[in-house]
Amino acid sequence: MKILGIETSCDETAASLLEVKNNKIKILSNVISSQVKLHAPYGGVVPSLAAREHVKNLPKVLKLALKIGNYKLENVDLVAVTRGPGLVSSLLVGTTFAQALAWKYKKPIIGVNHLEGHIASNWLPSQNLKLKIQNLKSQKNYSLLTTHYSLLPALCLIVSGGHTELILINDIGKYKVIGQTLDDAAGEAFDKIARILGLGYPGGPAIEKEAAKVLNKKLRLKIKLPRPMLKTKNLDFSFAGLKTAVLYLVRDLTKTYALSKIRTAVAQEAQQAIVDVLVTKTVNAAREYKTKSIMLSGGVSANKLLRQELKTAAEKTGLKFYRPELEYTTDNAAMIALAGFLNYQKNKKVTEKSIKVDANLKLG
Ligand code: KG4
Ligand code: ZN
Repeated sequence: MKILGIETSCDETAASLLEVKNNKIKILSNVISSQVKLHAPYGGVVPSLAAREHVKNLPKVLKLALKIGNYKLENVDLVAVTRGPGLVSSLLVGTTFAQALAWKYKKPIIGVNHLEGHIASNWLPSQNLKLKIQNLKSQKNYSLLTTHYSLLPALCLIVSGGHTELILINDIGKYKVIGQTLDDAAGEAFDKIARILGLGYPGGPAIEKEAAKVLNKKLRLKIKLPRPMLKTKNLDFSFAGLKTAVLYLVRDLTKTYALSKIRTAVAQEAQQAIVDVLVTKTVNAAREYKTKSIMLSGGVSANKLLRQELKTAAEKTGLKFYRPELEYTTDNAAMIALAGFLNYQKNKKVTEKSIKVDANLKLG
């Protein structure tokens, strides 16, 4: 079965062709047009600009996805499109476009929850072209559906600019949010702390890069930031206090030192604080709910420290660890195509005429 995925929930315009045959998941194409540069001067996504760009880019992105996948729309078996959560104006562009295609080519269409897409991103095989060329024979360009199913129930930590959620996955379509942030999302914390440190947007990659710099040996700073809610029994998170702690710390330290002298140390400690809380709570939750695997997804899942520390902690607990290939950590349409397929296969739930957009769509 060939699935066309379309994603426009925020500031990435994406189209992808995915094939699922004999239990094997294969990516035929995965095209993403990012608007990061366009929104960077505003320090965040501007909804009206995002929608305008989607209108402009979607036909080009689709054309390229079909060309790379060497495929015609006539032969696609299912169209999967993000219907929420996200920015209403952006979602409307994608769903209207997808519905027009489905109508014109008489294809079934399914609306996908963006978060379900992020969960599915863990199961997507790598398309890393460099790897493929170097290692043509041994590199697997597919993953096996049955293997993934056998590792359910799973616990997925979704961490992005808008989400920090612990999701218990008992089965496809059966999700339970067992923990979430009470205020800022983890990505939002990275972005806000980066702004305090005078680093660029998006803040996560900027903090990661800054933290990786060798510490200034001459300046022996002992910095300790709080690990909010690390020891609480519940599985919720809170990052607003950490951001405030960074604000006060930087205000105090810059009375003595130039910001450029303390930036690396603060970035490093802030990153470690966020990762410590995320890893500890996720592993505690997996133990409590006796899951077989831990999954990670969302924009923040690109963070190397988080990937490494969560992997170590999961494996120490005897759990299989999944994380998306780096190419699928940002918003993409391959994950939407796979989530669409999984739901279609399970429920045969197909909406032919109208896909309802829901900016606050919940999982489950
Ligand atoms: O999932 P995403 O691309 O968009 C949504 O928010 O839905 O996530 C973007 C978030 C931003 O807050 C960004 O700072 C964060 O993911 N992020 C990172 C890294 N790369 C992106 N945070 C930490 N480390 C990274 N390497
Ligand atoms: Zn996302």
